Formats: sequence, structure tokens, C-alpha cells
Amino acid sequence: AENLRIALAGLGTVGAGVLRLLAENSEVIANRAGRAIEVVAVSARDRAKDRGVDLSPYAWEDDMTVLAARDDIDVVVELVGGSDGPALTLARKSLASGKGLVTANKAMVAHHGLELAKLAEGNGAPLRYEAAVAGGIPVIKGLAEGAAANRIERIYGILNGTCNYILSEMETTGRDFSDVLADAQALGYAEADPTFDIEGVDAAHKLSILASIAYGTELDFAAVDTSGISRIRAADISQARDLGYVIRLIGLSDCTDKDGTRHLFQRVAPYLVPVKHPLAAVDGPTNAVVAEGNHVGRLLFQGAGAGDGPTASAVVADLVDIARGSSMAPFSQPVDTLQSSTPADPGDR
Ligand code: NDP
Ligand code: HSE
Repeated sequence: AENLRIALAGLGTVGAGVLRLLAENSEVIANRAGRAIEVVAVSARDRAKDRGVDLSPYAWEDDMTVLAARDDIDVVVELVGGSDGPALTLARKSLASGKGLVTANKAMVAHHGLELAKLAEGNGAPLRYEAAVAGGIPVIKGLAEGAAANRIERIYGILNGTCNYILSEMETTGRDFSDVLADAQALGYAEADPTFDIEGVDAAHKLSILASIAYGTELDFAAVDTSGISRIRAADISQARDLGYVIRLIGLSDCTDKDGTRHLFQRVAPYLVPVKHPLAAVDGPTNAVVAEGNHVGRLLFQGAGAGDGPTASAVVADLVDIARGSSMAPFSQPVDTLQSSTPADPGDR
């Protein structure tokens, strides 16, 4: 079979991780994909930057949107970030020209997911975004495919690796919030603008994506009641501990029937979690997602939620899917109409 020819836009933590993974595991990837995945072209802001990977085999484009117009590319991999701007232009152009798109950009999917899904379906172009939620955990595939026979009633969990790293480090070492945040940035866990992490926005992006898949409804990021961890102090953590709790940033969504209408509730906030609860043991940049289905019961997805290796694994798994020609549950055709509950009126919860 012919190689799957890809272009990479963005060569930071995740982009460089994808290049390393494709190089190191090329044989196993080609076996599973049924053909080789070949990087043809790359793009980032600064061509001269040392990224610890050899870029000489690949064509370089200063303007990443040009990647969408190259006829020697089958799939564009967008690892730049930002809900709008060049990432969105590239995504739109790639799908409009019939190229596949793989992205880790939850901000873009949360804001423009429906439009992109319609473009993808209209142009027969595959669209995948497994890496956008919970890093290396295949939670989107798990919900969309593994739990396809179920009505999902509730999803909750730890969706931001940076916040979980900060909270668990503060708890075990007593270190300062700002010191630990600086570590999370150096380790490649944080967003380019870390306020997205610590104010809960990144977790809200992810929660809205999961909710749309789990409940089969349109994405409604604006309806997520969001607060973050920037006001949590070391004293809060130790007092919680004295009372038998740890503090975790939790994303929680449920879907309930009320007067014949289904209501969707979505919230991201710091919660007190009893020390014996499974989520209390989740530390470092780990994520954990619990989904409750009406026949399967409670599912727990857990693993590395941020960082180069885990995120690159999800990106490359999406490329393997596309290389195999597998299709995924559509996302532009909601099966249910939901009423978003306001935070003050969380339905029947
Ligand atoms: P980085 O900041 O490490 O890398 C971003 C890359 O995009 C860099 O190579 C940068 O170029 C390039 N870039 C940024 N802005 C522009 C621009 N205007 N024009 C051209 N190139 C640009 O980010 P990450 O790798 O951490 O994240 C990439 C995406 O993956 C984001 O959407 C993020 O939310 C998502 N993600 C990240 C995870 C993580 O653990 N880091 C986990 C899951 C998802 P240059 O290097 O030249 O500056
Ligand atoms: N900044 C994100 C996090 C990256 O810390 O979870 C993974 O999506």
C-alpha cells in the first residue's frame, strides 16, 4: 500500500514528540497501520530553533497554511494550539481540500468542533482529535466506540494534568503554587498560556468535548460553569487533609430527564475528594475519567494526561486509524436535543 503522507504544523512539546515516536516505533506503527506513515513537510514559527530532532529530511513551510494546499500530503497534523488564528485557518483549509486532519487542539475543537466536523463530512475527509482530551488515554474512542451501545448518564474526572500535578505536588511537598506551576511548564504539561490550565478553561474545553460525544449532542463550551485552582493555598490543602480530603480539579457533567426534556449540566471546579475515593489517589499529571453507562455500569479511564510521549501516542494512534481507513462515529449529527442547565438550576441532580 502507498505511504500515508503527512505534514506536521507545530514542532513544540507534542510535535517533536510525534516525530520521535514515528521514528522510534516506525516498524510497529507500519504493521498496525498496514502501511508506512511518512512525514513529508513541517512548519513552526522559528526555523532555526533546536528541537532535538533532525528536520533535514522534511520540506519546511514558513506559512503553515500552505501545507493544506500541497498535493503530496494526505493528512495535516495540527499541533500549534489556539482556538482561532493560524491553527483554525489550517484546519479549515485542510478539510476543505479533502485532506485528513489530526489535532490535539481542544480549544479549537471546543469552539469550532461542529463546523470542522461538518467540513470533514462534507468533503469526505477524516477528522480525529483523540489527543485533545486526557493526553494518552483513549477516552474519546472508549466513549464513542467502546460504549456505543450505552446511554451515558454521567461523566466526571480529572481532565487537566497541570492542575493535578500542582495540587498533588503542593500536597506531598508543601511547595508553593507558583514554583510547581513553573515545573509543570518546564515539563511541557502546561498550555502556552497557563491561565487556561489554572483557571479551569482547558478542563472545560475537554469536558464539553466529552459531553458532546457521550450524550450525542452539540458542543456547548459556553455552558460549562468554570472555576480553577489559582486561589488554592497550601493551607487549604493541609486543612482539607486534616478533614480527610484532598483537593482535585474535577470536571463533571450529567444528563438528566426533567419534564420530558433532557438537561445537560457541566461544571469544572476544585472539589474536596475523600482520601479513600479512587480519584484521590490520582496524582502528578495523570488524568482519570469516569463514565457511567446504563448497561455497562461504571468505566474508569486512567493514564498520563499531558506531556510529549503520551500525547504523541494519541496523535499517532489517530494516524494509524486513518491509514487503516477506519471511520469513527460522526460528531456533526447530534442524536439528542439537550437543554443546558444554568449553574443555578442544575436539573434533577
Ligand atoms: P508548544 O508551545 O510546545 O508548541 C507549539 C508549536 O506551534 C511550536 O512549535 C511553535 O513554533 C508553533 N507555533 C505557535 N504559534 C505559531 C504561529 N503563530 N505560527 C506558526 N507556528 C506557531 O505546544 P504543545 O506542543 O504543548 O501543544 C500543541 C497543541 O497540543 C496545543 O493545542 C495543546 O493544547 C495541545 N496539547 C498539548 C499537550 C501537552 O501535554 N503539551 C497535551 C494535549 C494537547 P516554535 O517552536 O517555532 O515557537
Ligand atoms: N495543559 C494540558 C494539561 C495539556 O495540563 O492537561 C494536556 O491536554
